Amino acid sequence: MSTDELASKTAQICLDGNFLFVDETTGSDETGCGTKCTPYQTPVAAVALIISMPEEKQATFKIAVKKAGEAEYVEITASALKKARKSHEIAAKKAKKQAEQSSKDKEQNEAKEAEEQRRLEESKKVVLVEDASLAVAQQIRIQDSVKNRNTRVKVFGWVHRQRVQGKDMMFIVLRDGTGYLQCVLTDRLCHTYDGLTLTVESAIAVYGEIKEVPAGKTAPDGHELVVDYWHVVGKAPGGDDSFTNRVNEESDPSLLLQQRHLVIRGDRASSILKIRARVMRAFRDHFDGNGYFEVTPPCMVQTEVEGGSTLFEFKYYDEKAYLTQSSQLYLETCLPSMGAVYTLSESYRAEKSNTRRHLSEYTHCEAEIPFISFNDLLDTIEAMVKGVVNRVWDEPATRAMITQLNPGFKPYTEPFVRMRYEEAIKWLNDNGIKRAEDGKDFEFGDDIPEAPERKMTDTINKPILLTHFPGPIKAFYMPATKEDPRVTESVDLLMPNVGEVVGGSMRIWDHDQLLAAFQRQGLNPDVYYWYLDQRKYGTCPHGGFGLGIERFIAWITNSHTVRECCLYPRFVGRCQP
Ligand code: 4AD
Repeated sequence: MSTDELASKTAQICLDGNFLFVDETTGSDETGCGTKCTPYQTPVAAVALIISMPEEKQATFKIAVKKAGEAEYVEITASALKKARKSHEIAAKKAKKQAEQSSKDKEQNEAKEAEEQRRLEESKKVVLVEDASLAVAQQIRIQDSVKNRNTRVKVFGWVHRQRVQGKDMMFIVLRDGTGYLQCVLTDRLCHTYDGLTLTVESAIAVYGEIKEVPAGKTAPDGHELVVDYWHVVGKAPGGDDSFTNRVNEESDPSLLLQQRHLVIRGDRASSILKIRARVMRAFRDHFDGNGYFEVTPPCMVQTEVEGGSTLFEFKYYDEKAYLTQSSQLYLETCLPSMGAVYTLSESYRAEKSNTRRHLSEYTHCEAEIPFISFNDLLDTIEAMVKGVVNRVWDEPATRAMITQLNPGFKPYTEPFVRMRYEEAIKWLNDNGIKRAEDGKDFEFGDDIPEAPERKMTDTINKPILLTHFPGPIKAFYMPATKEDPRVTESVDLLMPNVGEVVGGSMRIWDHDQLLAAFQRQGLNPDVYYWYLDQRKYGTCPHGGFGLGIERFIAWITNSHTVRECCLYPRFVGRCQP
């Protein structure tokens, strides 16, 4: 306390005689100053103030205490004063020790920092030069590292992980997108400025020979690059802005979405994106190998396919237009031109609800096939799912990533369960699953919501081709069956842990029936003239389906949400990065 503060306190105290006041109930050691209006809470604080005064003054002060529940101040007893003095002494000793320790720590830290600074300055003098007497290093990608063991190579990549062992050894796990490579740096290689300040996610180039690791040691692919020369290509920041400060495993999901451009560098996200690439290729290979042609329909459209409520509208010059919900109608027009066709295009749905399986923009794999029956359609969907899974499963690298993410996954060999909508309603009622809105049994005609559908699929725990939905809960283009006009030739493929992955149907192929369907739906047939023409110029029975790529990936990788299964997810409230 400064002399001025002390003087002012003493002046206030003098107003109340030579007493310092302690009120156990209303006082405060932090904000109090010992006067009657602002008393201390404990006698220790009063003792501390007395001891801070000049010695000749100390004896002139007494302490008055108002105990909890008492109305009056009473002079402190000798034993309480002794106790307070003792407590003060202990506290003062502790504070002194702490102050000494922190000054020692400060000194040590300063010395450490100075040493660090000296080492850094020193390190700037260490300049690495590639040894010209060594063989010329061939640039390789990590995926080719096994076949390039024991020859001198050069590898570019990003520091995925880094471990410093003493002053003379450093291990780096390098990542280049094609794989991971452990690199070991020793002696002078670790002593450069870049060596001392290396950070994860820096881009570097390493030169040396890839050697098998000795028995008992582990490293990706069982080998490591023994580095003889290296340099930094693009350094990542350290400190507050370091990569691991921007994103880490504990980060909140919304922060991870905001930082998705960094998250995709991680093991899990990059594996899912690589699996996705292989899955997309497998779909293409499957269709191409089965006589389909790929087409690329427009995304900007003026018609709806799956109901007006999820249309994204935008101004197309001076007209109203939408982002496509499905390419189906365009695929149908391609049948007489190319026969069976497919597309892997984006579809858009203004889904207002925040669920783990809905996106506003998703990749839609759609196919359309002429001259087939409804049963052919079901067989086609089943064969496609099995065929695509087999293709990705047959690639060792993709299989390894799937197994890592979803250890229990195996391709299905058994036939998928085929179940009619009406049987599903019965299943729900037999299993005591009720309608959420009124707690009653489901009835024929009800739309089966996501939760009960998931419950049924997860309980049956097999892929289910759920068929024959009632017309009113399905899209306008689905034809009624001949034997029961209440239901349509429609199908959803339900997968355990995800739910609906495919939606498909036969299409009304009679011109007048389709016109009537437009009218029932309140759609203006004029804007669908091109779609109706397909029924006019050589119509034929046909059917098709759409599969959500993100849901398919979520199923294979056992991901909790489809948001993890695309590059930059779009859903209500998020349109960046
Ligand atoms: O069942 P849907 O709405 O069917 C159609 O769009 C048909 N026109 C397709 C066709 O027959 N060519 O959607 C088909 C699939 C769903 O099963 C689901 O996998 C996916 O598309 N899907 C979504 N995926 C992510 N987010 C959304 N909002 C989705 N909406 C549908």
